[in-house]
Amino acid sequence: MSLVVKLLVVLVALFAGQLAYLVVARLFLSPLRSFPGPKWAALTEWWEVLHTAKCDRFMVIQKLHERHGPVVRIGPNQLSVASSKTFQHVFVTKCSSFVKSDFYATIQPGVGDKYSGLFNYTDHMRAMKERRDLQPMFSPASLKKMEARFEPLLDQMVLEMKKRDEMDMFNHLKYLLLDTIGDLAFGKSFGQLQTGEEHQYVTDFNRAFMLIGLQVTFSWLIPFIPYLPFKPIQDAYFGLQRVFKYARERVDAYLESDEDKTSTLLSGYLDTKTGQPKEPYTPWSVTIAGHGFVIAGSESSSITIAYMLYLLIKQPEAERRLRDELSTLPPKYSSTDLAGLRYFDAFLRETLRIFPPAPSPMPRIVPAGGFTMDGITYPPHTIISSQPYSIHRDPKVFDRPDAFDPDRWLTADKESKDLMTKAFVPFSAGQRGCVGRGLAWIHMQKTLARLLEEFEGFEMSRGMTDEDMELIERGALAKPRGTKLWVKYRVRET
Ligand code: HEM
Repeated sequence: MSLVVKLLVVLVALFAGQLAYLVVARLFLSPLRSFPGPKWAALTEWWEVLHTAKCDRFMVIQKLHERHGPVVRIGPNQLSVASSKTFQHVFVTKCSSFVKSDFYATIQPGVGDKYSGLFNYTDHMRAMKERRDLQPMFSPASLKKMEARFEPLLDQMVLEMKKRDEMDMFNHLKYLLLDTIGDLAFGKSFGQLQTGEEHQYVTDFNRAFMLIGLQVTFSWLIPFIPYLPFKPIQDAYFGLQRVFKYARERVDAYLESDEDKTSTLLSGYLDTKTGQPKEPYTPWSVTIAGHGFVIAGSESSSITIAYMLYLLIKQPEAERRLRDELSTLPPKYSSTDLAGLRYFDAFLRETLRIFPPAPSPMPRIVPAGGFTMDGITYPPHTIISSQPYSIHRDPKVFDRPDAFDPDRWLTADKESKDLMTKAFVPFSAGQRGCVGRGLAWIHMQKTLARLLEEFEGFEMSRGMTDEDMELIERGALAKPRGTKLWVKYRVRET
């Protein structure tokens, strides 16, 4: 036997030994061995990667919960928990002990701390410090200013809709919210509502998502991408460079401008007197923050509004009740007036419950001491995930959990309502819950109200089917399978 063959035999034997060890360790010795779940998930993280690629991860996890109960194993070291009581413990009461897992650092837009923003921080103290700085930015007074900046863009959306009697509302609403957050994060809208075309920055950051997979496993490959003969990856790479170039140029122009800097999503990072980044922030960290807001705060809201429109079409009685309530408002109403409309509020909540745009697992690390709840012991350092999609379908909390029924929020007794409120987590909850939920709520309320005020006779068109609106996972968010919502409508007579 030649030396090369001998070496190969040794390598194969080592590999087989390693594999056998992993199988035994993960299936029979792991402290998670007694939790139910697919064997493939217990064996390898690739089970989760595969379902992410198939866009069905949160649905498959939900089916596992329906079959096995509130705790299932979805990775060699990962459990998914669908109990709202455990969710409250991990994400709210003990949030500082259950820190975000490394997953969050791997989904940032580039490799290294330089590209890390609030969403990605695994260090709890660092996140708390930044969130404290941002508090005034999300105060009621500041949200009012942001609401005022939203009005002209909403007008623009209505204007474009009035030019025709049919529109792909999935796309149009996406433009509205991207233009809005672009304006709030960079001081200037992307102008997509006006041009009807996707801005290069948006095309580029969507393409760049493909780099995230590479960043996780092959980060050393990133600097060599310009020399690789593979165009889609090169496009993603150069696109990402353009994303940062655009974002940085916009932030620099915004910082240099004389405009009032108290009405944008960057104000929390700026010194109120000088309008320049305050310690420890820099123009670059403000750029990363701005980019983070665009990613986190645009499509999540536009997708929800698209589903509200779809539900209006499917439930004419709900549309009638919404119109009745809206007719009680004064001619110039604000989001505060809308918040007082009970059915309107219930309709919004129920849309977010059934179609949460961020439905998927949110991984946290069990602290060193482990913990026990409802008779289940979670070993130290286990990754414990909860997903809004499953918490929203807990049959102990929500009667007929898959039914869209806004009235459940209006007719429940106090005890059931409290349970439902705790299990309503489209924005997650606790100290690492969504910072932008108040802003998102304003955008969703105002857009729905305006659509009802200006238009009527909504119906799906161009052969749209319910399958096109099935919620599936796409990147960090969930979207309708068809990524479109063609709707016909009439302008309302006033
Ligand atoms: C319907 C709209 C929205 C939904 C459903 C939503 C949902 C969420 C969820 C579920 C999380 C927690 C994710 C996790 O822990 O893995 C989150 C975090 C976050 N969201 Fe939102 N979001 C929305 C709108 C917004 C808006 C408008 C902004 C800002 C402009 C925003 C900024 C953020 C940020 C910065 C975080 C990270 C907070 C932290 O880690 O401390 N989101 N959001």
